[in-house]
Amino acid sequence: MSGSYRAFLRHLHIGEPVSGAKIAADMGVSRVAVWKAMESLRKRGVKIAAGRDGYLLEEPADLLFPDDLERLFAGARIGHRVLYREQADSTQDMARKAAEGGCEDGTLVVAETQTSGRGRLGRRWDSDRGGLWFTVVIRPRGPPSVVQVYSYMASLSVREAVAELVPERPWLKWPNDVFIGGRKLSGVLTEVAASTDEVRYVLVGVGLNVNNPVGSVGEAYSATSVKEAAGRFVDRNDLLASVLSRMNTRYEQCERDGPAAVIGAYRRSCSTIGKKVRVAYGDGSMEGLAVGIDETGALEVRSGGRLTKVHSGDVTHLRVSAGG
Ligand code: BTN
Repeated sequence: MSGSYRAFLRHLHIGEPVSGAKIAADMGVSRVAVWKAMESLRKRGVKIAAGRDGYLLEEPADLLFPDDLERLFAGARIGHRVLYREQADSTQDMARKAAEGGCEDGTLVVAETQTSGRGRLGRRWDSDRGGLWFTVVIRPRGPPSVVQVYSYMASLSVREAVAELVPERPWLKWPNDVFIGGRKLSGVLTEVAASTDEVRYVLVGVGLNVNNPVGSVGEAYSATSVKEAAGRFVDRNDLLASVLSRMNTRYEQCERDGPAAVIGAYRRSCSTIGKKVRVAYGDGSMEGLAVGIDETGALEVRSGGRLTKVHSGDVTHLRVSAGG
């Protein structure tokens, strides 16, 4: 859809009709162009009523406008190319196909809904309309040992972008869950295609509950959304742009100076550090004190005088303090 239809949407309001003639005059287009835009928006699910006094919205319009994103991020690493679907099985799978087909570094794959959205550790990820479900294809220069940094880049960016909209401070649980209070708001799934010494691509998949109804996230946590935390409907285009712009800054920083700064920022924001934790991995588990994040992004857990480096797994905070 043409990005300019978003401009038509800005002229529509709830409970306040605006005539086609006024929209046409304000936008400098014909009334036929207004009518076509309304039809096209309706086809995409926007509830527009038309009465004697003109057009009005029956509920807030909640649509992504990929052309606008491409325009906004033209010249940037992430988001200059957007592959968009109303419905995808999983944006991870779409992104993998695109990556195997040679898509550019920073290609963004985004869908309004996913039928087989997946989370970490084989969990299901509910992906109803109204959330942000996207995957960024990264083709980094670094070695496979530091790919964790690209998922930190995403969760840090989500946390900061959301923090601008909600009164309560979001916090990060290792590796990439964003929580508000005790409820999960967002998660990151990172998948890598690599040989022993070279990364071919990294798929950084982000699920962020925004205006979608929330229940549980997979089986593990109760969930919340930005709308719930902010107490109002949130424009997903603006929120996605805010996340992507922060990811771009961090990606450039990584490419320029290496991963240390992003890992440092993550270390300072991750509420798992300093907590007693249980780490479940494969068929085993361990308990200990989470003491740090090393230079590759691994979680360091001290237990009985031994320091274990955890690269993946499921972490439970055993001693809950303020913030989690
Ligand atoms: C988790 O916390 O378990 C990670 C959730 C990641 C979900 C996102 S939604 C977009 C992308 N496509 C998927 O199928 N999964 C990721």
